[in-house]
Amino acid sequence: MNIMATKPLILNGRSVAGEVLKNTVSEIELFKLQNKRIPGLAVILVGDNPASHTYVKNKEIATKNIGIYSEVHRLQEHTSENEVISLINSLNLNPKIDGILVQLPLPIHIKTEKVINSIDPDKDVDGLHPYNLGNLMRGQKTLTPCTPQGVIEILNHYSINISGLSAVIIGRSTLVGKPLSILLLEKNATVTIAHSKTDNIQEIARSADLLISAIGKPKLITKNWVKPNAIIIDVGINRIHENNASRLVGDVDYDNASSICQAITPVPGGVGPVTIAMLMANTLKAAQQRETKPANRGA
Ligand code: GUN
Repeated sequence: MNIMATKPLILNGRSVAGEVLKNTVSEIELFKLQNKRIPGLAVILVGDNPASHTYVKNKEIATKNIGIYSEVHRLQEHTSENEVISLINSLNLNPKIDGILVQLPLPIHIKTEKVINSIDPDKDVDGLHPYNLGNLMRGQKTLTPCTPQGVIEILNHYSINISGLSAVIIGRSTLVGKPLSILLLEKNATVTIAHSKTDNIQEIARSADLLISAIGKPKLITKNWVKPNAIIIDVGINRIHENNASRLVGDVDYDNASSICQAITPVPGGVGPVTIAMLMANTLKAAQQRETKPANRGA
């Protein structure tokens, strides 16, 4: 078969997100009827990182569109760790709030772990608290990080069966690479995590039936990194400046890698919209769990 002549299947994140949001909206309607309130999400953003401001704005718009109560706390760069934790403590106790998300990265004077650990695990819609990451590790149902869950949602949407496939993840972050490796293992993929210190990274990538990049390096991955007929999921969202204009590109050189792969997510319009949809779904899930749980854990 001359695979070079065939166009790859475009894995359309906007359609996947649309379907997740549609289901979430109808479940929110039911939740409202049953509980006489709407789910609520609080987002905390510290500092001036322009990409973070855009992501948070998109999350705020999504909550409004879908009928979730939302609070965005935009704090100045010099805000202290204790101030952030005090805010989280009050949101932990606020009955209107079901989900708390602290946008990352935080300014360097704030310890991310300390902040994340102060979130009530039942409200940890980012799935980054050790309680939720521990449950994920044990294969138990829990609040799961949105981007890795979004990747699985895309694969499910297109009925891509990954059992037995060789999956290579490029990037080992707590936000994406590590939790995604666990989710793919649950689906019986054989998982390799490659990263900036990996020897022969290109060769390892080229062994992948499913290649996922979450490394944040614009257009790093060209067809020399890709096994013919591989499925590519591009988690990277990088802003580049070219010809006096700025635009978003992934970690994958889309036009180049498209000539060899079987399926690929575009950037924009791939994993990004699905991540936001999973955040909405996780907020609803946290709200449902709070309503059905007789008492808080440890109380
Ligand atoms: N920064 C970039 N992506 C994310 C995300 O999914 N969650 C949080 N908290 N911060 C991010």
